[in-house]
Amino acid sequence: MKKHLVVCSLLLPAGALALAESPPVYPSPPGQGTGQWASAYASARSLVGQMTLEEKVNVTRGFPAVDNVCAGNSGSVPRLGWPGMCLHDAGNGVRATDLVNSYPSAVHAGASWDRNLTYLRGLYMGKEFKAKGVNVLLGPNAGPLGRSPLGGRNWEGFGVDPYLSGQLNYETIIGHQEAGVIANVKHFIANEQELHRRPYFGVEAVSSNVDDKTLHEFYLWPFVDSLRAGVASVMCSYQRVNNTYGCMNSKLLNGVLKTELAFEGFVLLDWNAVHDVRSVNAGLDMVMPLGGSLGANLTAAVRNGTVEEDRVTDMATRILAAWYLVGQDIDFPTPGIGMKNLSLPHEQVDARIPEANPVILEGAIAGHVLLKNDNRALPLSKPTMLSVFGYDATVPRTKNTDVLFQLGYTSSPEMGQAVLGTEQHFDQAARGGTIVTGGRAAANAPSYMIDPLSAIQHRAAADGTWVNWDLDSFDPTVNGATDACLVFINAMATEGWDREGVRDDFSDSLVLNVARKCSNTIVIVHTVGTRLVEQWIDHPNVTALVFAHLPGQDSGTALVQLLYGDADFSGKLPYTIAKNESDYSVFESCRPVVPGDTNPQCDFSEGVYLDYRHFDALNITPRYEFGFGLSYTTFEYSSLSIKTQDISDAAGQSLWDIAAEVQVTVTNTGSRAGQEIAQLYVAVPESPPRQLRGFDKVSLGPDQSATVGFQLTRRDLSVWDVVSQSWDLQEGNYTIFVGASSRDIRLYDTITI
Ligand SMILES: *[C@@H]1O[C@H](CO)[C@@H](O)[C@H](O)[C@H]1NC(C)=O
Ligand SMILES: *[C@@H]1O[C@H](CO)[C@@H](O)[C@H](O)[C@H]1NC(C)=O
Ligand SMILES: *[C@@H]1O[C@H](CO)[C@@H](O)[C@H](O)[C@H]1NC(C)=O
Ligand SMILES: *[C@@H]1O[C@H](CO)[C@@H](O)[C@H](O)[C@H]1NC(C)=O
Ligand SMILES: *[C@@H]1O[C@H](CO)[C@@H](O)[C@H](O)[C@H]1NC(C)=O
Ligand SMILES: *[C@@H]1O[C@H](CO)[C@@H](O)[C@H](O)[C@H]1NC(C)=O
Ligand SMILES: *[C@@H]1O[C@H](CO)[C@@H](O)[C@H](O)[C@H]1NC(C)=O
Ligand SMILES: *[C@@H]1O[C@H](CO)[C@@H](O)[C@H](O)[C@H]1NC(C)=O
Ligand SMILES: *[C@@H]1O[C@H](CO)[C@@H](O)[C@H](O)[C@H]1NC(C)=O
Repeated sequence: MKKHLVVCSLLLPAGALALAESPPVYPSPPGQGTGQWASAYASARSLVGQMTLEEKVNVTRGFPAVDNVCAGNSGSVPRLGWPGMCLHDAGNGVRATDLVNSYPSAVHAGASWDRNLTYLRGLYMGKEFKAKGVNVLLGPNAGPLGRSPLGGRNWEGFGVDPYLSGQLNYETIIGHQEAGVIANVKHFIANEQELHRRPYFGVEAVSSNVDDKTLHEFYLWPFVDSLRAGVASVMCSYQRVNNTYGCMNSKLLNGVLKTELAFEGFVLLDWNAVHDVRSVNAGLDMVMPLGGSLGANLTAAVRNGTVEEDRVTDMATRILAAWYLVGQDIDFPTPGIGMKNLSLPHEQVDARIPEANPVILEGAIAGHVLLKNDNRALPLSKPTMLSVFGYDATVPRTKNTDVLFQLGYTSSPEMGQAVLGTEQHFDQAARGGTIVTGGRAAANAPSYMIDPLSAIQHRAAADGTWVNWDLDSFDPTVNGATDACLVFINAMATEGWDREGVRDDFSDSLVLNVARKCSNTIVIVHTVGTRLVEQWIDHPNVTALVFAHLPGQDSGTALVQLLYGDADFSGKLPYTIAKNESDYSVFESCRPVVPGDTNPQCDFSEGVYLDYRHFDALNITPRYEFGFGLSYTTFEYSSLSIKTQDISDAAGQSLWDIAAEVQVTVTNTGSRAGQEIAQLYVAVPESPPRQLRGFDKVSLGPDQSATVGFQLTRRDLSVWDVVSQSWDLQEGNYTIFVGASSRDIRLYDTITI
């Protein structure tokens, strides 16, 4: 096994060391309007062809909102009847408004590994954005992927694996755009931490220094799937890559995105990201929230020859092509119609449709992961007495009268004092109540919120169960006759800050305090991602552990169905839970390392050796590995077969051609119905021991079997060759592993190329 070397870069004062550079790539390639874009481009060209320079510039920039709270509003072109667009957040549903639903977060959808539910989540969420008059939905998220477990926005993505992220971004984008809104895959690229994501107080934003191979094999991978889904816009990121700001980086925008990947849609600035007129030549197409340093300056820049008018024509064409692509010329409400200031009198614009309800509940169920279940602690069966503990069991005290659900949880004093735009400390746990989302841009207000305790109370009423609860005490009294104790804790994160850690003493002590007195202690963790559990996981009284992630508004309903066995646990971890922080190849965020350094560098020298790739390569035993999750039933795997196609390097073969078809039989060997997520990993020569390259969810009754098929494309088996700048198959042996997690491999076989 090839071990990798993690190089710790010694950062010297700026200037003492040659810094990573990004080469210039000009000019900016105009959109071609090929394939599925053809008719959208024809319409866009015809409309843009009638516009003056000022009108074209108007399409590319933001204007102050007149009568809405959209995160951004483009200009309009009244002379030609083009209404402009509302652009708005994001991940859990329509943000900062009323009469919408709160969906499971992306990390929760990631833990479901369920393409169908993820597509439907994207579709119904998209319909709500449309009903509210939001033209551009500022998601989904293909980065951060989660290089550091502390990343404050990791939960806005589907998990740390690029293949999983790519598959679920694909489904989401298809859903959003089928609903008639423009999806915006973000943040392009290597936007892996919140600390120093933007320049502050004279310190430049962090520079993510990523080599070309790692970029292609890891960070770019899910963006490629997003483009394949036809995503109509891409958001460039705040931080720098190789010392050039993401939204000014011609190598990334003109080179990688618009030439290599032939992206036909438009590149949108992350709000107020660093840019100037030169960004336009580097490939930026739209500036938000206002005109920034573009606006009238762009007109001036054309007049003095800094920017060619053709580039502005291309910018406007790309934006309007996106608008036509999703049918907004045919059927779309007035932009921002349902996005009114909630404090002022406004019409009710109800975006919720009943068809979304089962998808929200099913999605909430599917993202819970059962990690431990000793002595069949679960499912509960008509317990006579239950005891509920922990700050996370109940609703926060306030909804819309406070900005809690508009900005996320950041501004609620109970949640720990974080205030937008400042760098104040806040606890890892949100102790003011249960969490159903993380904070800020991806958060939104739920229609209602079923919390764990009230769902348990309803169930208790039906079953005749006596319920004790004490959500305030740090060291609660336990009734010695209780059948089980449920302890609810959480781990919170918010855009703008990285997490302070992956364990917190308060919550860990609370669990231990209950476990000391209760021989059947069941721990439920609502969490934005990984969290260590070492302090109590081996305690003999901790019988069960559920990672409940961020389920959205049906949180308690979903949990109770699972705890009582009305539904089966089928979720699997989309990241690894380590035994210790130092087990991760990257843990801390990057920051200036010497006093006075204003130029923080972040060398991605670990390459693709992140999360399970690193644990596997160095043989580090995690507590719970990537892909792990228990069910109430058991599954057996048999009859692995692999059929290879002619995959010689013949010319004319596409990256998307099928190279091998793999089949396996999965059998439910338990006594209950359940769902299994069968996973396929490949050992590619000169690469990590295993990399995810397939998964599928099957639903099986007791004793039922099903054949699960996986199709491996040439891309799935290739590595990026930096010299030829292409994906290449290598000669050698490729081992194909199939199993129930990244370490619970049940069958494998080798193919030779
Ligand atoms: C960043 O620098 C590395 C190392 O020189 C190079 O491999 C990579 O292509 C560069 N990436 C960009 C986007 O400039
Ligand atoms: C530009 O957009 C603004 C805001 O929608 C609008 O008021 C203005 O008339 C537009 N200008 C032109 C030249 O169309
Ligand atoms: C032009 O750019 C300057 C400097 O970046 C900025 O201060 C100004 O507001 C811009 N003008 C317009 C009309 O956007
Ligand atoms: C052209 O105009 C732009 C926008 O006002 C300005 O930033 C740039 O410096 C000008 N360039 C020249 C050569 O005058
Ligand atoms: C909404 O209106 C209130 C009251 O006029 C005002 O204080 C607040 O700033 C407005 N909010 C937004 C987002 O415009
Ligand atoms: C487990 O709980 C019981 C109470 O049911 C208690 O007597 C015992 O000491 C606990 N065990 C540990 C290791 O704390
Ligand atoms: C656990 O990780 C921390 C933080 O990286 C490190 O300081 C400590 O030495 C590690 N402990 C063990 C037992 O490895
Ligand atoms: C997903 O949808 C497909 C096509 O509708 C269906 O065949 C499959 O059974 C579904 N899978 C699950 C896990 O629901
Ligand atoms: C591939 O596997 C075969 C059979 O185990 C072995 O003989 C051969 O040397 C391997 N090839 C490479 C390139 O490792």
